[in-house]
Amino acid sequence: MPEKTVYIETVGCQMNVLDSELVIGALKRKGYVLTDAAADADVLLFNTCSVREHAEEKVYSALGRIAPHKKRNPGTVVGVIGCMAQKDQEKIRARAPYVDMVVGTGQLGQIPALIDAVKETRQPQYALSLGRSDGGRHEVEASFESYDPVRDAAMRPTPFQAFVRIQIGCDKFCTYCVVPSTRGPEQSRHPDHLVAEVRQLVDQGCKEVTLLGQTVNSYEYALGDGRRSRLSDLLARMHDTPGLERIKFVTNYPKDMTDDLLDAVHELPKVCKYLHVPVQSGCDEVLSRMKRNYTASFYMEMLARCREMVPGVAVSSDFIVGFCGETEESFQKSMDLVAKAKFKNSFIFKYSERPGTKAMDRFPDDISEDVKKRRNNDLLMVQNANSLVDHRAWIGRTVEVLVEGPSRHGHREAGPVKQLIGRTMTDHITVFDGHDRLVGQTVTLDVTDASAFTLYGTVRTGEQVGVTCAAEPAPREEGAKRIGLALV
Ligand code: 5AD
Ligand code: SF4
Repeated sequence: MPEKTVYIETVGCQMNVLDSELVIGALKRKGYVLTDAAADADVLLFNTCSVREHAEEKVYSALGRIAPHKKRNPGTVVGVIGCMAQKDQEKIRARAPYVDMVVGTGQLGQIPALIDAVKETRQPQYALSLGRSDGGRHEVEASFESYDPVRDAAMRPTPFQAFVRIQIGCDKFCTYCVVPSTRGPEQSRHPDHLVAEVRQLVDQGCKEVTLLGQTVNSYEYALGDGRRSRLSDLLARMHDTPGLERIKFVTNYPKDMTDDLLDAVHELPKVCKYLHVPVQSGCDEVLSRMKRNYTASFYMEMLARCREMVPGVAVSSDFIVGFCGETEESFQKSMDLVAKAKFKNSFIFKYSERPGTKAMDRFPDDISEDVKKRRNNDLLMVQNANSLVDHRAWIGRTVEVLVEGPSRHGHREAGPVKQLIGRTMTDHITVFDGHDRLVGQTVTLDVTDASAFTLYGTVRTGEQVGVTCAAEPAPREEGAKRIGLALV
């Protein structure tokens, strides 16, 4: 029988990367072989993102590029899956009528059966969840299923790292954001299942897990009898997994950064001392229009609490510039916040108006593209100056790095000694020369140089293999003052 081949393009966040891995895993079990040549594929999948318009346009142009291939080979199955599929089934049909399959984030498990249905019936197949107001909470929740089948180590880009979805959906409804409609209501997965999933991943050779959730620190599972499992409990349970070396979690919501979680990050040696906590803006009026439910000073207090309770923690953030009604004065407040906050790094986005969001209904997108671009550059410049200071402070220190693979920019490809890349427990990207057998190992490096984005190091001789990254927690400052936390 000839091989069946599948091609996939993925845009967007780590959730999408995980979804693509799982979908391809399921198709491989059905006999499909993954190809990176779209022209050879029997099935072409586009796993999509709707967070910004640019990400959607990328998918429409990819669909345009494969149109001639589909015309020549009408038996090819073309599928649009993920966030855009959930949100825009009609638009996809209008702009690319040859698409055979539109599958939302909550129906990914049906893809193998839907492909068979397309092949048998030659009719387009749609599998989508309910909209947020198309039914009662339970009905809508049930229509979004977490897709987390048993996995195969060979499916992952690196066998020693894995994403683990601990929560789907989002209930925060920030006014600019499509995620609550594309990924549905917030639902946390059962801790027993998650602990078992991590154990299974570690049995397959995984050393580092990254727990995923849109607001991962809001994770909460009702166990019955009024008992609840929170992220701090989950971290403690996962921490006991023998062979697991590192646990990370992204993305955090500032108001849910509770003391029990920070205690867990501080006390559990395998938990990375790294927190990604998007602030989005430094201006209270903008934050209020965004419906972020906190002020800039609340955020700064939260940040101080993170640093006080987890000494040495690295914090990164996200900003949106040019949100509706952002004056020069309000933008300046983001500039002031980024200067003061001293994030390890920040991701800065130009506001992109999204149909279906509250911001689009309520506020005009009144900042010009040129102004958005300028504000983006200005904010990035301040952040980059701080990133350089942050990174250079590591020169002369010793770090433990989980080696991820050869550096993409490395030039010395021939021979076993390569420029390798890894990350520290604080998520600092580190580049160094080493034997390629170090990939997947934790190595000790002396940091010799740094740029705003990268540490450069040399391997400590005799220490490179099998070092675990578990370290004693750094001491907290004597008598450190606890800053009060307002819980949502
Ligand atoms: N426009 C620009 N950036 C956005 N983000 C979310 N929605 C939008 C939007 N409509 C950014 C936020 C979020 C990150 C993942 O994407 O900063 O934290
Ligand atoms: Fe979007 Fe806000 Fe939810 Fe993050 S917390 S996914 S920005 S709605």
